[in-house]
Amino acid sequence: MKILVTGGAGFIGSNFIYYLLENRPEYETVCLDKLTYAGNLKTLDSALKSGKVTFVKGDIANRDFVDELFEKQRFDVVVNFAAESHVDRSIESPEVFLQTNIMGTASLLDASRKHGVKRYHQVSTDEVYGDLPLDAADSFFTEETPIHTSSPYSASKASADLLTLAYFRTYGLPVTVSRCSNNYGPYHFPEKLIPLIITRALNDENIPVYGQGLNVRDWLYVEDHCKAITMIIEKGRAGEVYNIGGHNEKTNIDVVKTVLSILGKPESLITYVKDRAGHDLRYAIDPAKISGELGWSPETKFDEGIKKTVKWYLENKTWWEDIINGDYKDYYEKMYSGR
Ligand code: NAD
Ligand code: TYD
Repeated sequence: MKILVTGGAGFIGSNFIYYLLENRPEYETVCLDKLTYAGNLKTLDSALKSGKVTFVKGDIANRDFVDELFEKQRFDVVVNFAAESHVDRSIESPEVFLQTNIMGTASLLDASRKHGVKRYHQVSTDEVYGDLPLDAADSFFTEETPIHTSSPYSASKASADLLTLAYFRTYGLPVTVSRCSNNYGPYHFPEKLIPLIITRALNDENIPVYGQGLNVRDWLYVEDHCKAITMIIEKGRAGEVYNIGGHNEKTNIDVVKTVLSILGKPESLITYVKDRAGHDLRYAIDPAKISGELGWSPETKFDEGIKKTVKWYLENKTWWEDIINGDYKDYYEKMYSGR
């Protein structure tokens, strides 16, 4: 089985590569990644040493390059993680989101069609459903919830998601789509909430909380997401969408306070800042379809997963210190100064 993992030098893609190495040693993996600011080849160090993973640097939106790669490698399965993934950046500069997330997906779909890929899996997001109100705790996203996006990021992901489904209906390409809730775990880039809290708290720096910190996210340990994707590509039905989430809703302020308490840092580090434009209120997944049909359920509870994650950041300081001491400094200054 030869599998192409795009975006494998980023957070979830790299965890997926390590998940396959551990659980599917018979798979041969090729990682295609452009190595944008979010991609880090050091993350894949030990995967590349295993001899079962090879790395190719390139842009999923470069059609000629993608076509040649597919021609040469003859992939059985493609899993597309490659994307611009940060909502705040999409508010500042939407264009690259359209280019990578939409045009890049289109280029992979065309190559998959042309070269007879047996399964194309699109890693989508629950953000395609927009948000749920804060005062309706029994409402959840199902696969039937209408697509209703809020940010340039989610709009670009929804376009890619729908295009993938169109390739099934129109051309019969055997696709699957997963829409997962917020992930956390090792190798998470420190611009996102949980690694931002950990890395800033460890340096005794303030933690910026948008608005009143009452927005709700449904957190899933990244390994549980990787397990779900593996089940979908192996047993999921072509043409289907699967929601992934483990009923783990938390307000942002709860998450911040939990991490500060694990680290023994004071709540006085919390700083409320101007809210994100168009900020989605609440995400919450109903995972009944993937549980019932494929037997998936999450293994890591939030209390355990968050402690494991904090421990990983404590034990892997050079990984994130190299990031926050690089271009990230300018990013942080630009996004947060005067906010
Ligand atoms: P990430 O930003 O950490 O990683 C993205 C990776 O894609 C990076 O390695 C980057 O170099 C690469 N990339 C970007 N543009 C590329 C291009 N044009 N060609 C090739 N490679 C390119 O993102 P992540 O958090 O790991 O998310 C992975 C996928 O999962 C994304 O599609 C995202 O929309 C989806 N998702 C993420 C979450 C989450 O909580 N992080 C939840 C649900 C879905
Ligand atoms: P984020 O990790 O960017 O994921 P997403 O927006 O895709 O859900 O943000 C998670 C939540 O945390 C979201 O409600 C915005 C909030 N947030 C803050 O309060 N402060 C921050 O500095 C960041 C990056 C996010």
